[in-house]
Amino acid sequence: MRLIFMGPPGAGKGTQAERITTAYNIVHLSTGDLLRMNVKRGTELGQLAHSYMDAGELVPDDLILKMVAAEFKDPKIENGFILDGFPRTVAQATALDDFLIQEGKHLNHVLVMDVIDEKLVARLTARRTCRICGRSYHLSFNPPKKPGICDNDGSELYQREDDKEVTVRNRLAVYKRQTRPLIEHYMKKGMVKHIDGVGTVDEVFDRIREVLGPCD
Ligand code: AP5
Ligand code: MG
Repeated sequence: MRLIFMGPPGAGKGTQAERITTAYNIVHLSTGDLLRMNVKRGTELGQLAHSYMDAGELVPDDLILKMVAAEFKDPKIENGFILDGFPRTVAQATALDDFLIQEGKHLNHVLVMDVIDEKLVARLTARRTCRICGRSYHLSFNPPKKPGICDNDGSELYQREDDKEVTVRNRLAVYKRQTRPLIEHYMKKGMVKHIDGVGTVDEVFDRIREVLGPCD
């Protein structure tokens, strides 16, 4: 299964993608997670990307496309993938279309998570993220079992630099200006499935499963 996961910052893409990848045995490709890994390791890409990320602006297309092309060379994607946070611009969507045509592959669905702005701000400003595996928690809605510690690997949780309110609001504006227009691009191909992203994590996952069908 090949999926694109779209939706504003804080819609729950990372949270749900983790469940989808486990249930459907596909790879989670999050450009945000890949970029944060590069920043942490201090790679050339990380050094070029980090100021855009901290300001809530998009990283330039050429850097993103080079990074994604390297991921697509990995045989791990043969079983299917969910693209979380990519494509985010018309240029990225066009490059993905070209790649899929070239490889003779098609997308199954473009899932768009819908959540209103004020809920997004509340979700992101109280999000905590694992330094090692990147899993997201929320101080009230989705807390870890032990405060400050990741349930998955016992590592420390931290607040992402771009989860401060002023940056969150800029990320929402950037999403509306540069990424939301892509929904139209995929609507024309008849691929878009809207998912109501409000409710518990389990309720939202049930809605996704209804769209994707049985896991086996
Ligand atoms: P990226 O990491 O992709 O961030 P984003 O799209 O802004 O989305 P988030 O990760 O913030 O939110 P999410 O939808 O994954 O929500 P989550 O599940 O964590 O990108 C970061 C930056 O990298 C960009 O700003 C840009 O600079 C750069 N970048 C990345 N890709 C790029 C690209 N392709 N081109 C250019 N630049 C790029 O959940 C959020 C919170 O809500 C958590 O606290 C969670 O616990 C909670 N939550 C989840 N589900 C629920 C629920 N059902 N009810 C209540 N709370 C919930
Ligand atoms: Mg995410």
